Amino acid sequence: MFTKKFDRRVYVAVAALLLAGSLGMAFGSFVLWPSRREAGYMPPQPINYNHKIHAGDLKIECLYCHSEADKGPHATVPAISTCMNCHTEVQTKDGDGNLEKETAKLLEFWESKEPVRWNKVNVVADFVYFDHSRHVNSDIACQQCHGPVETFEHMKRQFGLKMSWCLECHKEPLAEDDPKRELGRTPKAPIHCSACHR
Ligand code: HEC
Ligand code: HEC
Ligand code: HEC
Ligand code: HEC
Ligand code: HEC
Repeated sequence: MFTKKFDRRVYVAVAALLLAGSLGMAFGSFVLWPSRREAGYMPPQPINYNHKIHAGDLKIECLYCHSEADKGPHATVPAISTCMNCHTEVQTKDGDGNLEKETAKLLEFWESKEPVRWNKVNVVADFVYFDHSRHVNSDIACQQCHGPVETFEHMKRQFGLKMSWCLECHKEPLAEDDPKRELGRTPKAPIHCSACHR
């Protein structure tokens, strides 16, 4: 019916469309796949960093490592140099006197000057404005949003971080005698759309 050349063009066009479609689907499911967005999400990490040892047993302050949480929008994860404040000295060994596996990995990153690429655990969509400092300076404990982190041997997402979750807390009225009323702050956290969608 068509010339050979034209047929070939149709095949190429269809193949390109199919490829674009499947790439789009793969990307979409990577971004939107429910397990990455739900409570309990626990990705593997390049070093099995243990909050129970550090924030629980050793009682190191959260802000020692997440030092921007009371200053700006992002809590930030510490650079390896923060770990080395202690780990140039503290180097756990196993029964045979070899470096314990996770400590060995830490030292490898340090020696090769490679930044550790931690996998993100808590994420809200790009179109949502969230600021740590406003919450932290309003005396909301990290644990209210992240759970009992000082007992976590491996970091996990405690809540789904859905809109309804934010609003549940924002709608909660402050008590009559809450000192935050005197600070001139809104008696309730904002619930108008543009507070979080700017
Ligand atoms: C000695 C440093 C250190 C201390 C102290 C520490 N953390 Fe972390 N935290 C890390 C590192 C490193 C990561 C990234 C690796 C991981 O997720 O386990 C992390 C990850 C996190 C995450 C997940 C980040 C994400 O991607 O969503 C949260 C939430 C968190 N910490 C909260 C806390 C809280 C709350 C405390 C105090 C109870 C605390 N941390 C104490 C080093 C620390
Ligand atoms: C304030 C000191 C201090 C800081 C800062 C610190 N650690 Fe530790 N870390 C320790 C101590 C103490 C131990 C426990 C040693 C033991 O159990 O013998 C330890 C244990 C460890 C272990 C081995 C135990 C295990 O299986 O988890 C690893 C791995 C580790 N830390 C990684 C890190 C990383 C990564 C950071 C930076 C994000 C960090 N540490 C920051 C003091 C610290
Ligand atoms: C009101 C809830 C809330 C409180 C309180 C809170 N966080 Fe978060 N945290 C979040 C949300 C939501 C995200 C995801 C933010 C994003 O994707 O931009 C997050 C992300 C993080 C991350 C990943 C890096 C980043 O900044 O995106 C770390 C680390 C963290 N929080 C640590 C802490 C620590 C430490 C405290 C206490 C000092 C704390 N958070 C208090 C809700 C909270
Ligand atoms: C545990 C309670 C709690 C949760 C959960 C919470 N918030 Fe808030 N939020 C507050 C309070 C209280 C304030 C008011 C702080 C103040 O004015 O001192 C506030 C204020 C804000 C503000 C106003 C800050 C500004 O700069 O105008 C934004 C935006 C906001 N929250 C976004 C969010 C988002 C997005 C989430 C969910 C991902 C969330 N919050 C979850 C308690 C919460
Ligand atoms: C306290 C913060 C906050 C306020 C106020 C808020 N939102 Fe959201 N909104 C969010 C968060 C967080 C998400 C992301 C949910 C997710 O990633 O699953 C979201 C997601 C959405 C979405 C995407 C669909 C969905 O549910 O995930 C729409 C549409 C939306 N918001 C509309 C609104 C409208 C309209 C208002 C005002 C009536 C509003 N939002 C007020 C925090 C807020």
